[in-house]
Amino acid sequence: STPDSLVPRDPRLIRLTGVHPFNVEAPLSALFDEGFLTSPELFYVRNHGYVPHVNEEEIPNWEFSVEGLVEKPISMTLRQLMTDYEQVTCPVTLVCAGNRRKEQNVVRKSKGFSWGAAGLSTALFTGVIMSDIIKRAKPTRGAKYVCMEGADKLPNGYYGTSVKLNWVMDPNKGMMLSYKMNGEMLRPDHGKPLRAVIPGQIGGRSVKWLKKLIVTDSPSDNWYHIYDNRVLPTMVSPEESAKDPKWWMDDRYAIYDLSPNSAICYPAHDEKLSVSDDTQRYRTRGYAYSGGGRRITRVELSLDQGMSWRLADIEYPEDRYRNVEVELFGGHLDMSWRESCFCWCQWSLELSVSELKGAKDILLRAMDESMNVQPRDMYWSVLGMMNNPWFRVTILNEG
Ligand code: MTE
Repeated sequence: STPDSLVPRDPRLIRLTGVHPFNVEAPLSALFDEGFLTSPELFYVRNHGYVPHVNEEEIPNWEFSVEGLVEKPISMTLRQLMTDYEQVTCPVTLVCAGNRRKEQNVVRKSKGFSWGAAGLSTALFTGVIMSDIIKRAKPTRGAKYVCMEGADKLPNGYYGTSVKLNWVMDPNKGMMLSYKMNGEMLRPDHGKPLRAVIPGQIGGRSVKWLKKLIVTDSPSDNWYHIYDNRVLPTMVSPEESAKDPKWWMDDRYAIYDLSPNSAICYPAHDEKLSVSDDTQRYRTRGYAYSGGGRRITRVELSLDQGMSWRLADIEYPEDRYRNVEVELFGGHLDMSWRESCFCWCQWSLELSVSELKGAKDILLRAMDESMNVQPRDMYWSVLGMMNNPWFRVTILNEG
């Protein structure tokens, strides 16, 4: 393993769990200012433990396997993955299930650390479509899940989880094995040299430092699959959840698809709207995303506690990558194999400063193409995940 202190990191990142393990998000405004793609310096990091160390010379020889309920188990190196399969490049936004958890922890302490609203980042990922590999291994009858396992051995074993086999085989789910972000080989924190990219689902499914794909007839029995990334019923307290394993064993509570969520980046929580700006207009701005490949179809703001709403303008930078076919970063940028929306979008709405200053706060909510809308109320749960009630910024008047 690499000592955390030796891995180069950007000083702007906000550490969320002390020195180790390394868990960071960028300041929200800095993340937003970067635009659609996030640079590796400001990409959020969620590590459960240490970062496996890989020497540069060993990268092409990184071995991983496909095993379990398959006719033809595969053992191959990263070099073979890069030469024997079609290489693709696609934009994907990864989002930690704990994004916005801080708000839950204020209401009642959950078992997780306090993410602000910058627990998400976007990159162009280059790699291989996961179904291309699974197809070659020929899953047998009864195969229903694909378990993934990383190289980071943690107190409860290797990090691992699973997704459904039929999702993997559906190109519109966009699942990949990736070795490059924005044209650079993956950095250590993001899974160097190989990771899964599971678009539209919580970041916890995108296993880093990938060593194994195991085809099975039931969901992963990995500790991190069972005791992490779940939304338990709201009445289950930390004590109750520790006493009774039945809460964790129920796969209905496992989170896969992200739900609609959004944040106001400007004005920031601590931004003062200055008096001299009274005659001017202010462009409120922020992001929104949803899960399962669903497009965000509206973003609404309220200045009167949700009595009335205004429609914001939305830009979908992801669409600029559709209908273009170029060789990029050693992969083919061609999104025709996946039509879904797997990236955040940016919204904006211009308001007069005086109107803003007359309001107590700004509320925000987003809706997706299935009419899933962010709720008014918080759904607190023991792991503090999938927090997505209306986003609120209190307006600070100067003087
Ligand atoms: N994979 C391994 N092997 N170990 C981990 O700790 N963390 C998961 C996932 N994959 C994790 C992992 C979680 S919870 C998230 S949100 C994403 O990686 C974060 O990816 P990133 O650090 O590249 O942003």
